[in-house]
Amino acid sequence: MTADEAYIRESILNPTAKIVAGFQPLMPTFQGLINEEQLLQLIEYVKSLQSQAPVQEARPTLEGPRPGENTPAGAPPRGKKKDK
Ligand code: HEM
Repeated sequence: MTADEAYIRESILNPTAKIVAGFQPLMPTFQGLINEEQLLQLIEYVKSLQSQAPVQEARPTLEGPRPGENTPAGAPPRGKKKDK
């Protein structure tokens, strides 16, 4: 599943439609609680979070883990930003 705008919109308005593996369907719907403008703002906010948690690209295993890298799914260490 790609977390595109349509998916984020659905996740906010109809959170039980698609559940991320390992999560319970606990999220309440925001349908009727927020207007279109607020929804668009939330979508923009969620999109802005994605670039801070990039999916780690494949790299040679000989390199070994980076300092502090032993988190689930190989998430990069907190506070260490990839240079752009
Ligand atoms: C404005 C408030 C919120 C926004 C914008 C929001 C947005 C989202 C989005 C975009 C996802 C999908 C994440 C993904 O696919 O990686 C998600 C999942 C989830 N949310 Fe929220 N959420 C909000 C409030 C809440 C609240 C209040 C709860 C619980 C009390 C909650 C519980 C969950 C849970 C358990 C999931 C994972 C299960 C699933 O995929 O539905 N969220 N949320």
